Amino acid sequence: MVCLGNICRSPMAEGILRKKVEDRNLQIQIDSAGTGDWHAGEHPDPRAIATAKKFQINISNQVARQFTVNDFDNFDRIFAMDQSNLENILSIARNENDKSKVGLLLDFLPHLKNKNVPDPWFGGDEGFIDVFHLLEEAMDSYLKKV
Ligand code: 4NP
Repeated sequence: MVCLGNICRSPMAEGILRKKVEDRNLQIQIDSAGTGDWHAGEHPDPRAIATAKKFQINISNQVARQFTVNDFDNFDRIFAMDQSNLENILSIARNENDKSKVGLLLDFLPHLKNKNVPDPWFGGDEGFIDVFHLLEEAMDSYLKKV
């Protein structure tokens, strides 16, 4: 799960998917990262932590990190939250195999193909709740496919 700062969208996406995977007893390794490094080493934004907590998901222990080229080796699928994240990830892809792993998360929702998960960073708590529901919908669709 990749966004820009790895403190708002992708930590919630990681937490949601981790919970769903655990609930289903699936074996899927999940992580998140940001294309930027400004927040590396930080815990998620307090609004993201509070939003996830509302839905019984604890993301407070996550620590932000920057996406690296090694992630292409460590993961089979890489989901970008928005078009800009997608372009940044693809810009460090080494080959077609790396590129084939990357896609927009919302492409799992047919009515939101090519759409971005809005960045809630500049808004209030409501934006985080809306993003949470959007992420959850996308994860449900993803899990139906795997
Ligand atoms: P995220 O949100 O990419 O969903 O983690 C952001 C967090 C921080 C910044 C931008 C987006 N920032 O500019 O610091």
